Amino acid sequence: MSSDAARVAVVTGANKGIGREIAWQLAERGLVVYLGARDEERGLAAERALRADGLDVRFLHLDVTDEKSVARAAERLLTEVGLLHVLVNNAGVGGPVQPPSQTPAEQVRRVYETNVFGVITVTNALLPLLRRAGSARIVNVSSVVGSLAAAAGNLDPTGVHRPGEFPTMLSYSTSKAALNAVTLTYANELRGTGILVNAASPGFVATDINGHNGVLGAEQGARIPVLLATLDDDGPTATFLGENGTPEGQVLPW
Ligand SMILES: NC(=O)c1ccc[n+]([C@@H]2O[C@H](COP(=O)([O-])OP(=O)(O)OC[C@H]3O[C@@H](n4cnc5c(N)ncnc54)[C@H](OP(=O)(O)O)[C@@H]3O)[C@@H](O)[C@H]2O)c1
Repeated sequence: MSSDAARVAVVTGANKGIGREIAWQLAERGLVVYLGARDEERGLAAERALRADGLDVRFLHLDVTDEKSVARAAERLLTEVGLLHVLVNNAGVGGPVQPPSQTPAEQVRRVYETNVFGVITVTNALLPLLRRAGSARIVNVSSVVGSLAAAAGNLDPTGVHRPGEFPTMLSYSTSKAALNAVTLTYANELRGTGILVNAASPGFVATDINGHNGVLGAEQGARIPVLLATLDDDGPTATFLGENGTPEGQVLPW
């Protein structure tokens, strides 16, 4: 996008972790950022912290698993700004590291509610606003553990996991694989509309989702999602981009 002036973004799950940092970095670039959070207190606290830096950040009550909450958020955006340039589907939950054979289907279903169905609910509710912007970006925050090619080769192309030790987390990994498929499906529907749809792998970032075992800071974890959220009009769609420390990032296999 050539100018970020007065552009509007929504970041889901932005009260902490990578999402909060994505919100901060987009607002720093001059975007008006709606900071999505399911908990009012946590959302308002994050809004206050970012506003203290002089940024135009607005708490948006948004539980991605609650269709009514999503519909209310879409109505508010329609009234207040009328269009949307950037949607970052960042909200996500983790799942336990345990063999698939010992993972109840109910647990998988619960993770999919947020990581997959939540993304679909939010995207469909906000697409009319994104279409009105003419040029817009959707970024789905995925993970390299969702790469089917990496799983098939039992090889992590980012080098976080040792060769032959690709993680087998049924709920989390397959939710991100499904999210990748969702990303491609929207990207194909929206080709030629000016809406670019891509997936980001933020790297192994120290946040609550992994008990702060990650090795990167949230600032670096937000870098690739922000890069994809601010692509120029001739930027790619249907790309899976990961953090590897290079300015352009690492194209990951689906
Ligand atoms: N950290 C990593 O190494 C890593 C690696 C690859 C991908 N990711 C992805 O990055 C994204 C952000 O994760 P993170 O590492 O920043 O973890 P985090 O600190 O645990 O943040 C997760 C965020 O999602 C929100 N959330 C969860 N369920 C929600 C719902 N139903 N509605 C709205 N918000 C909801 C959480 O809100 P509450 O505070 O209310 O729970 C929180 O704001 C996730 O999609 C994750 O899968 C992370």
